Amino acid sequence: MARSASHFVCSSCGAQTRQFFGRCSSCGSWNTLVEQAGATDGRRLRPQAAGPGRRAEAAPRRSAPIRDVGERPLERLASGYGELDRVLGGGLVPGSLVLVGGDPGIGKSTLLLQSAQAMAQRASVLYVSAEESAQQVKLRWQRLGPADAVAPGREQGGDLQLLAETDLELVLQELEALRPAVAIVDSIQALHDAELSSAPGSVAQVRECAAALARIAKRQDTALLLVGHVTKEGMLAGPKVLEHLVDAVLTFEGDRFASHRLLRAVKNRFGATHELGVFEMRDRGLAEVTNPSELFLGDEPSSGSATIVACEGTRPLLVELQALVSTTSYASPRRSATGLAVNRLHQILAVLEKHLGLPLSRFDCYLAVAGGLEVEEPAADLGVAAAVVASFRDLTLPAGTVLVGELGLGGQLRPVGQLELRLQEAARLGFVRAVVPRASGLGGAARSLGLELHEAGDVAQALVAALGVHPADEPTGPVV
Ligand code: TYD
Ligand code: MG
Repeated sequence: MARSASHFVCSSCGAQTRQFFGRCSSCGSWNTLVEQAGATDGRRLRPQAAGPGRRAEAAPRRSAPIRDVGERPLERLASGYGELDRVLGGGLVPGSLVLVGGDPGIGKSTLLLQSAQAMAQRASVLYVSAEESAQQVKLRWQRLGPADAVAPGREQGGDLQLLAETDLELVLQELEALRPAVAIVDSIQALHDAELSSAPGSVAQVRECAAALARIAKRQDTALLLVGHVTKEGMLAGPKVLEHLVDAVLTFEGDRFASHRLLRAVKNRFGATHELGVFEMRDRGLAEVTNPSELFLGDEPSSGSATIVACEGTRPLLVELQALVSTTSYASPRRSATGLAVNRLHQILAVLEKHLGLPLSRFDCYLAVAGGLEVEEPAADLGVAAAVVASFRDLTLPAGTVLVGELGLGGQLRPVGQLELRLQEAARLGFVRAVVPRASGLGGAARSLGLELHEAGDVAQALVAALGVHPADEPTGPVV
């Protein structure tokens, strides 16, 4: 077969050249030239009947008034995991393209093989393993205990086909031949298009392979799940190209030393983003955690700890924060935050210093979110402030207290979204007091939930409500 000419495109300015250079001759950026196959679009999947030149004139009008566009009910396929369905927005949409990213060893292959097994009881599934041999996948499949998942009247394994292959062309042929309802490719970086000279895993390869798979999947309504690896910088390799191409990007993350794993939707055309699914890695694969708040809560309140209600998508999560404030022995005090942006901590410390007069710049400050969760939302600010002040003053917050609120730079407490949902979750888990921003309008709702509600306009009022003392008052007598 004649090799189609490939060319190089600068990912920074879009200039094209026939030859590879380390530096783009147009914009001067280094290492931005990416190889692209010349004739890939025409080579694969062109409708058989029409020739390339005549198509434009012969084709009938394709647009239609929007009101006349037929509706097709979205029949989502249950993935076998309620948690995965939740993150997908209610199940897998036929013909959709989902990218599942995560660090090596986090459990992507396990998750997808287990849900492939579950889906294969109801639909045809093709599992393409480009990284592991068929024997390795089978060993894992046996270990995951397929016998439990066999629907009555079906054979063990259901309609699950396995293909161990790295050549893109062969994978495409198999997809054409089988026309499965679901195809899983593990991983997109290990696939290889022989038309391109660059190495498997390079941006050009990843893009070409994903685009070719996407075209065929869309055409035959196959839902395609692609596994993608995360680079050292924490990005999905070939990130932007893939993110634009796919309908949903899920990231699978977690502390490799702990057993729980978090699945998040970073992008989802068929559901809410930032939806969170929680799993636990056991000796027989991943199990769902349906009540995750318990994972991120400590046992007993202690000095320097505070509980917040974070909201991940539509899911409220109770999370314990711990702070340690101690006299510094460095010229500039140390600040470190695990599970929270350190700049956010700097900002909250500055607000506490300025508006409450606490001399925190003479103290080291460490903050940690329990359970390895990453908390991004500003609604955690009040909890951080309370944990820091509690550690600084050696106070313990009364048991059963949650704090929710964003701190403004002027020390004011700003309202946060989905407060009622957060309070419901707190009440459900047995919390009895909530400190929230003023004018929440939730007095009645909180009473019916059995919560004692404290509304505060600024950080000082909120901390007085939470701790029972003004943070700047000199301690009198022994602190509790
Ligand atoms: P894997 O799914 O291979 O990760 P990825 O595809 O993201 O690279 O998961 C690998 C880890 O999971 C491995 O360290 C072992 C662990 N594991 C279990 O603890 N229990 C199990 O049942 C399985 C299959 C894996
Ligand atoms: Mg894997």
